[in-house]
Amino acid sequence: MTETLLEIDNLSVDYETARGDLKALRDISFDVNRGEIVGIVGESGCGKSTLISAILRLIAPNTRFRNGAIRFKGDDLLTRTEEQMRALRGGDISIVFQDPMQTHNPVITIGKQMVDIQHRVKISKAEKLATAARMLGVVGIPDPEARLKQYPHEFSGGMRQRIAIAMALMSEPDLLIADEPTTALDATLEVQIIERLKDLQRDFGCAILFISHHLGVIAELCDRVVVMYAGAVVESGTVREIFHNPKHPYTRRLIECDPGHIKTRARVLPTIPGEVPDLANLPEGCIFRERCDQAMARCAQVPPLTRLSEGHNAACWLNHAEEIA
Ligand SMILES: Nc1ncnc2c1ncn2[C@@H]1O[C@H](COP(=O)(O)OP(=O)(O)OP(=O)(O)O)[C@@H](O)[C@H]1O
Ligand SMILES: [Mg+2]
Repeated sequence: MTETLLEIDNLSVDYETARGDLKALRDISFDVNRGEIVGIVGESGCGKSTLISAILRLIAPNTRFRNGAIRFKGDDLLTRTEEQMRALRGGDISIVFQDPMQTHNPVITIGKQMVDIQHRVKISKAEKLATAARMLGVVGIPDPEARLKQYPHEFSGGMRQRIAIAMALMSEPDLLIADEPTTALDATLEVQIIERLKDLQRDFGCAILFISHHLGVIAELCDRVVVMYAGAVVESGTVREIFHNPKHPYTRRLIECDPGHIKTRARVLPTIPGEVPDLANLPEGCIFRERCDQAMARCAQVPPLTRLSEGHNAACWLNHAEEIA
């Protein structure tokens, strides 16, 4: 039986700015089940980082939670104290950031950093070092005992990201959140990290919430995909449904514009014409309307996220044949 681990329920988050409230997330709803890999994909500025910072409550001071709930194992995280959230981060929920240098302190050896993050575990330092070496081995760092004595700058970017993943897994989290963990790496390293993440997910059984603007990576790694556009979920479904049977024009355009999907050599990569709307001054109706080549009169009203088949949802009037007719 599938068990829901994380449930985002109608979450709306604003940023207070001098220009008024910037509506960064609007009525976001999706689930992550235990042991499942869910990908979040969307263009820059669509709210991916806002969403994960809201989940972890690592938020900018001008962030305002307007509505909704973030339930983890059934408990609403929005009602938890700061101290409870601190215990959760690096405990049941771990995070890997885009830039591994953000994770590692440059003046402390990797070994000491990996011992320090085990502060909650009651074992000797030698045992903690042994655990650290074992985890480096798990993520594919050769000669881990010797490597523990080295500083972050003595590792390549790909290795630093593997170490960040090793550190994130040390608390045996139920949920690993990764915000563009491979974006700073070259394509070969990216493939290696993705393969490693898949193995680790199988061995450790944790769920992964994986954020990326790179569709190929999402297709390779994830079980399910949530497509975001300008602060809203426009479509969600299994990887198969999203890539082979997309139901929202935005998803279709994203797939068409992905370099991995372009068969013929082109001088100029296709892009989606137009710009993401101003979130501090939202247009009426469907958020994608201005850029959509299938827009119609009905789109003056916001289309609801509607269930099309088991686990496949889209927010587009094109899927409401009976209502448009
Ligand atoms: N503290 C803040 N105050 C005001 N606006 C913000 C703040 N943080 C982010 N934003 C705005 O909120 C929107 C969503 O930003 P967010 O960083 O979540 O997007 P993203 O999908 O992670 O983008 P990227 O792919 O570039 O990382 C953007 O319009 C951004 O400019
Ligand atoms: Mg981001």
